[in-house]
Amino acid sequence: MQSSWVPFVPPSASTLSGKVDALYFYLSGVTIFFTLLISGVLIFFVIKYRRRNPYEIPRPVAGSLKLETLWSVIPFIIAMTMFAWGAQIFFEQSRPPSNAVEVYVVGKQWMWKIQHTTGQREINELHVPVGRRIKLVMGTEDVIHDFFIPAFRIKADVVPGRYTTLWFEATKAGRYHLFCAEYCGMNHSGMIGSVVVMEPKDFDEWLSGSSSQQSPAIAGQQIYETLGCASCHGPTGEGGRGPALAGVFGRQVFLNNGQNIKADEAYIRESVVNPQAKLVAGFGPIMPTFQGQVSEEQLMQILAFIKSLQIRPPNP
Ligand code: CUA
Repeated sequence: MQSSWVPFVPPSASTLSGKVDALYFYLSGVTIFFTLLISGVLIFFVIKYRRRNPYEIPRPVAGSLKLETLWSVIPFIIAMTMFAWGAQIFFEQSRPPSNAVEVYVVGKQWMWKIQHTTGQREINELHVPVGRRIKLVMGTEDVIHDFFIPAFRIKADVVPGRYTTLWFEATKAGRYHLFCAEYCGMNHSGMIGSVVVMEPKDFDEWLSGSSSQQSPAIAGQQIYETLGCASCHGPTGEGGRGPALAGVFGRQVFLNNGQNIKADEAYIRESVVNPQAKLVAGFGPIMPTFQGQVSEEQLMQILAFIKSLQIRPPNP
């Protein structure tokens, strides 16, 4: 849906933005329609049933079950259309497609630090190609921030100690606003930037133009080696004192309390900063915490490294 003709509506530049606008216009339309209807009827009745002489006593009005049912059921149905439509968009927006390209984002007073899986780093700028699905994995170094790209109609809080994800597919090349939408201290209003959407070939050129940067997975591997993780966590179980890391990401993990959870971003992060929280079945509470020794960015690099250790399943 094209919305550029509507004043005050930001440019529409993602696969989601048209859908969000359509829902928004529907909500506005329903609201305007009922506002006009009710105020019109109100004015009409005020005039029609005005008191014509000082001795007039109104006729008592008995209730009407039919009418009451009608004006309960109709708004209910309208409210449910809003709910169903909104829920559908919400689910689509909150479930990143599995083939999305990941980009790591760290909020920090007062900037956005961004790293691509190929290693390129950016500050307060995010370059993305048209027509490719991008998944943002976001964390924060300090307080709560909020990553907001109005032109894509996406927005999410970035909360200390956990990861938030957003995804989008840009549809139109151009430069769009990037905001921090959560008050985060003195220079909150300066925590702004741009999203640069490029045609795929321009984007590839941009990527190759700033090479010689280390990919997050390689950087993560170096941290893994420096911190001596390998002595317990060999990628395929060497060391023996900690679970193997290869292929763990995205898999179900059995814990020693009988629980069974999915090894997602949050689980990996927690296992580094608070290893005793969820112990894998068969392993003792021997791992020290790395809280304070690794920054949020380094945690994301460790995460990228662990993700890169996937075991290719043999083709059946
Ligand atoms: Cu960061 Cu406001």
